[in-house]
Amino acid sequence: MDLNLTRADYCDNEKRLEWFRAAKFGMFIHWGIYAQLAGSWKGKEIPGIGEQIMRFAEIPAVEYREIAKDFNPVKFNAEEWVTLAKRAGMRYIVITAKHHDGFAMYHSHCSPYNIVDATPYRHDPMKDLAAACQKHGLKLCFYYSQYQDWDHPDGAVHKPQWDMTYPPERKDFHRYMNEKAIPQVTELLTSYGPIGVIWYDTPGQCPYYDSMRFADLVHAIQPECIVSPRVGNDLGDYIGYGDNQVPTSTNALPWETCATMNDTWGFKAQDHNWKDTGSLLRLLASIVSKGGNYLLNVGPTAQGLIPPESVERLEAIGRWLQVHGDAIYTAGRCLMPYQPEWGAVTGCKEQKKLYFHLFEKQTGSFVFNGLQTKVLRAYMMETGEAVPFAQQYNSALELHSLTLELPAQPTDPYLPVAVLELEDEPEIDPFLTEQGGRLVLNGFSAAISGKDGAHPQVQVSRAGLVENWSRAEDCLTWTFKVTAAGSYRVELNTFSEKYPEKDPEMSWEGGHRFLLRAAGQKVEFTVTADEKYRPRDLYLWHNVVTNCGTVSFPAAGIYTLTLEPQEIRYEKGLGPKLKSLVLTAE
Ligand code: GLC
Repeated sequence: MDLNLTRADYCDNEKRLEWFRAAKFGMFIHWGIYAQLAGSWKGKEIPGIGEQIMRFAEIPAVEYREIAKDFNPVKFNAEEWVTLAKRAGMRYIVITAKHHDGFAMYHSHCSPYNIVDATPYRHDPMKDLAAACQKHGLKLCFYYSQYQDWDHPDGAVHKPQWDMTYPPERKDFHRYMNEKAIPQVTELLTSYGPIGVIWYDTPGQCPYYDSMRFADLVHAIQPECIVSPRVGNDLGDYIGYGDNQVPTSTNALPWETCATMNDTWGFKAQDHNWKDTGSLLRLLASIVSKGGNYLLNVGPTAQGLIPPESVERLEAIGRWLQVHGDAIYTAGRCLMPYQPEWGAVTGCKEQKKLYFHLFEKQTGSFVFNGLQTKVLRAYMMETGEAVPFAQQYNSALELHSLTLELPAQPTDPYLPVAVLELEDEPEIDPFLTEQGGRLVLNGFSAAISGKDGAHPQVQVSRAGLVENWSRAEDCLTWTFKVTAAGSYRVELNTFSEKYPEKDPEMSWEGGHRFLLRAAGQKVEFTVTADEKYRPRDLYLWHNVVTNCGTVSFPAAGIYTLTLEPQEIRYEKGLGPKLKSLVLTAE
């Protein structure tokens, strides 16, 4: 603890978050004795995420404990993991010190159920990681499952509970909290040097004062250590999105999205559903352009090796960042209130630069709307080759447009970036305007009203999601500019967070009926996932994409679009959770 810190420093969240805002990219490591099972139990492949196999296979705690006796990660090498993260361009590491299974992956003195006392390995890997992180200048952060503990008799357990050795009515959460969770987090904060984040997870029904105790504990021991949002009750130091969720809007508050590289966090031998390098880079650029950090997961094996598929992708990302680092670390969040769907725009006020990350259109003529600042020079970041450009202003439409003539061939196999050098700091018209034939309408840009004059219940979360949509009278309206006459396909993106196999009653986030009004037209639709977007793994949060129909705009100009529910299915506190409505020119 730094004793020179004053009470003001202790409370200064901005100071605590300085390194986090600059970091942009981190490595999440899900590593535990579950890796030993690699996704199978008693010869059967178990569906669901690897680190939660105990729950998915309904393994009683006494049987699960046996796995520890075979856990011997002799190939673990902290130096290799940390240098891999560094080569990939990652600036922090968040590793599971204790997951929901209750097993401590470090030498804990308050529970013998830990890697030193309960496995043949008998060694504390967190000591090595702390030393390697110090040596290579990465921040070490610990994931700690504060609420769920499927091993401690009093820890919270996922419902429905499979192991009734300690039935819910006999549980005393505070006993678990006082004898295991608080002492273990204290150990993590006092034995491994400075910690970047205590990454709490799944607060569940954790009462306010308990979340507060978990948060205060961190700040009291290490005032500069950050508390993750999943401490619960809005007490985290930054905003967190759900697993694999990328918002459609930029946010001035610091935030983070944690994401899988395949469909699991903890190692699963059968999961080969790897995202390709291009997709991972697009996610990085997209998250950074909106002001967030990308926490990308690896799930090492029981031997202690990061899977080769992950290594290969991380190396490729690192090579891309060698060339494009300025477009990510120096630039960061773009000063426009919305991001185009064709890619991501990062910006740097001080250097008077904008970076266009080209996801889709990478060659030929390309138009960007709303840039009011004069462009002095445009070039491709990879080759330095000049990009011819022209700027125009249409006074009738009050529309600034910039046309770039991109090279005939993509200049990067994954993600080419065009750089604009500007005469002054970038000024971008904040009025929501179609970009590259797309319009993204989300919670932040919506006006909310109650059709019946009553106070609307629907809310926009700090993360920009439209939530708590319990009343059919609550409507959303957007006002925007369309740059040419034409017909647009409308897609609704909602989130689903249900577990259909466990509770068939909550089988699908669908059935809500809406009426959409725009330019004198009415389109009715029901939320149903389009077949081609059906999620691959039903245990993760996922996007439900509904094709709503089409609307046409007779001329360039300003329009409004209203989304009116006809029937809302609001059950168990869950209604439609809207991420965005996307209009694409046909
Ligand atoms: C969810 C899961 C947990 C995983 C975490 C990663 O909260 O319950 O298994 O570690 O997501 O963000």
